[in-house]
Amino acid sequence: MKIGIASDHGGYDLKEALKDYLADKGYQFEDYGTYSTESVDYPDYAHLVARAIQQGKLSRGILICGSGIGISMAANRFIGIRAALCSEPLSAELSRRHNDANVLCLGGRLIGREMAYKIADTWLSTEFEGGRHQGRIDKLDII
Ligand code: RB5
Repeated sequence: MKIGIASDHGGYDLKEALKDYLADKGYQFEDYGTYSTESVDYPDYAHLVARAIQQGKLSRGILICGSGIGISMAANRFIGIRAALCSEPLSAELSRRHNDANVLCLGGRLIGREMAYKIADTWLSTEFEGGRHQGRIDKLDII
């Protein structure tokens, strides 16, 4: 699984912590920025990861802004992107089992590191159930 991770300045600290955690767990990821706490625009980072998923360069993305809201809105404008904003592990699990979420969004200013680690662990290790859920997610991209 090739994971892309990105954030704006509001998610930068959590992104850096999560990178260490993911590396310790043996996950392979690529950091798409931002690379400091200097103020930036969250859509730019959502776009980088969403496009890389659309192009098949990444299988999953983790996006972090201050609340997780703006960056999830930005990612979900891309066809084929199913971004789930999660603040606890059950939502992360369901976003994989039922929605085949390919992007996890987190609010760097709203959740603690330990919670983020548990959410990411759950999200990365839960499989899509398919079946009746496949037809439903197919309808997401019919506009
Ligand atoms: C940046 O100040 C903040 O607005 C951003 O990180 C995010 O929370 C937007 O949804």
